[in-house]
Amino acid sequence: MAQKQTKTVAIFGVNGFIGHHLLRRILDTTDWKVIGFDISETRIASDRHNKRFTFYKGDLTKDIKTIEKIVKAADTVLPLAGIATPQTYMVDPLKVFEVDFEANLPIVRLCAKYDKYLIWPSTSEVYGMSPDNIFNPETSPLVVGPIHRSRWIYSTAKQMMDRVIWAYGTHRKLRFTIFRPFNWTGIGLDDIDRKGKGSARVITQFLGNVLRGENLILVDAGMARRSFTYVDDCIDALMKIIENKNGIAYGKIYNIGNPYNNHSIKELADQIVQKAPNYRYFKDKIKKVQIVSKTAKQHYGEGYEDVNNRVPFIENTVADLDWTPKVDFPTMIDKTFMAYVELFDAAKKVPKKKGAYARK
Ligand code: UGA
Repeated sequence: MAQKQTKTVAIFGVNGFIGHHLLRRILDTTDWKVIGFDISETRIASDRHNKRFTFYKGDLTKDIKTIEKIVKAADTVLPLAGIATPQTYMVDPLKVFEVDFEANLPIVRLCAKYDKYLIWPSTSEVYGMSPDNIFNPETSPLVVGPIHRSRWIYSTAKQMMDRVIWAYGTHRKLRFTIFRPFNWTGIGLDDIDRKGKGSARVITQFLGNVLRGENLILVDAGMARRSFTYVDDCIDALMKIIENKNGIAYGKIYNIGNPYNNHSIKELADQIVQKAPNYRYFKDKIKKVQIVSKTAKQHYGEGYEDVNNRVPFIENTVADLDWTPKVDFPTMIDKTFMAYVELFDAAKKVPKKKGAYARK
């Protein structure tokens, strides 16, 4: 009888937010092998010893030979490396294009060439300022602002890649799935220690602000709404896509988000201020912190335009993948606080290194 073959999953950007959570889940719950690639390895140190994990340190924009070797050795490929912090869309739009589109295009082409299953991270940003109340991958128009609003370079780079992949699927038989994360949230989303406005997405930004005793800034009074989705729920869905029972996920586009966690940024800030006194490392610092408001122009400068509301249609995701998001908004915030407390506690037990998370 032929032996069942173990899956080999290639994760580009394995040290990133989605990458390192996915790596850990695969190593903890399956017998699959993972080949990881990243420019840094700060979040995956504890997984390096695992015999099922092979890691290549490298630069996506330069190391094409290594990239090709990895794609050839895998059966499923997730190119997760990318820039996804809105401030960068204004400050360094070309870098966003170069990394998110240019550097990932060869991976897409290699998947087509070697007949590998490509799982591509699109984005909720693709829908832009779509007039729909709920964003549906089959029917919603994708609406972005004029060219001088460079916020949309990320959205359009991702949209272009979605279209390229779709075309490879329909014209060159590429096996693919596109997924669109809706404000995935949890520990490791951006660097909590990085100072400066706009250096992280909103929840990491606010938690980092608290740790540094800085005020929380509400852009345009924090009226914009997002559907926040806890990372564990997201990884559940991604695992189902990789499993791809009976090929159900081939050729599909899935929103992965929690429409029941649709809240304004002001509500997020209020929850953080309310909950911070329950957590060491945060509880003393929060006393100094206030919630203040700024205009989008003051905060992000020229070129920014916001998405007022973003709710995912997930019925096809739920039906195909037998998945539903479970973690509600307050629990998600508690879990994120708790994960940082555990991380800081653990860092205190090891000798303090530059860049480690040790705290007073
Ligand atoms: C993000 C990023 O573009 C992508 O990483 C990603 O694909 C997408 O969302 C997603 O995760 O679905 P956005 O939600 O606008 O876009 O990014 P955040 O920086 O988290 O901002 C959310 C909202 O908070 C915006 O309205 C922003 O103006 C506001 N904000 C941000 C504040 O009020 N204060 C801050 O200090 C930071």
